[in-house]
Amino acid sequence: MGKKNKEQRIADIRVFSNVFEYEHFSEEDNLKDKWHSEIFRNNNPITLELACGKGEYSVGLARRYPRKNFIGVDLKGPRIWVGAKKALKHNLENVRFLRAYIDHLENFFSKNEIDEIWIIFPDPYLKKERKRLTSPKFLNIYRRVMKPGGLIHLKTDSETLFDYTIEVIRDEQCDLVEKIEDVYRDSRNSELVGIQTFYEKMHLEKGKTIRYVSFRL
Ligand SMILES: C[S@@+](CC[C@H](N)C(=O)[O-])C[C@H]1O[C@@H](n2cnc3c(N)ncnc32)[C@H](O)[C@@H]1O
Repeated sequence: MGKKNKEQRIADIRVFSNVFEYEHFSEEDNLKDKWHSEIFRNNNPITLELACGKGEYSVGLARRYPRKNFIGVDLKGPRIWVGAKKALKHNLENVRFLRAYIDHLENFFSKNEIDEIWIIFPDPYLKKERKRLTSPKFLNIYRRVMKPGGLIHLKTDSETLFDYTIEVIRDEQCDLVEKIEDVYRDSRNSELVGIQTFYEKMHLEKGKTIRYVSFRL
């Protein structure tokens, strides 16, 4: 994407009604506890898509589940732009995007505000375990915003991240719900095989195996 196009997208999301950006919050804008009452204006459960990139899961799940709310979280504005634009075009009232560091989720959500989390092709950080979105450090962050027993899904092309996550689930005494070593060989679940992200398509073109695991905190 050219520099001009990137700058245009950054300017666009500043005025999109379905995007919140961490730099533009003042104290009064604090979103904590407002997602149900003021933003979605319903009491439906809230799912986060972390490392959402272009937000394919937020948009895809929102279409499937109109009685659930979805928030895509990523740092990169020009990527968020794609999902936000699609959600606006299709009048998806149950989707929002938050441009923020996942490390700072507690600044934006209160305890028990979140029901479910999808982590979709996050960077595997092969050399920096602490930065992995399924590391104990991040699970502790999720614990502080999720309902007890909240469900977390990970879809990844990285065998290292997948094996690491299984270990963390065991060490942290979380409940393993489902483990799929090869999604396109072993699953017919439309949430898993029916939504493909930008990175996923690249991995599939290279013949990589896509893995999935879900667990409860
Ligand atoms: C490999 S991409 C995957 C994007 C998308 N889920 C997909 O499958 O196409 C990882 C994404 O995670 C985002 N990311 C990585 N660390 C982050 C963090 N700490 N906070 C917010 N976003 C982060 C990056 O900006 C990037 O868009």
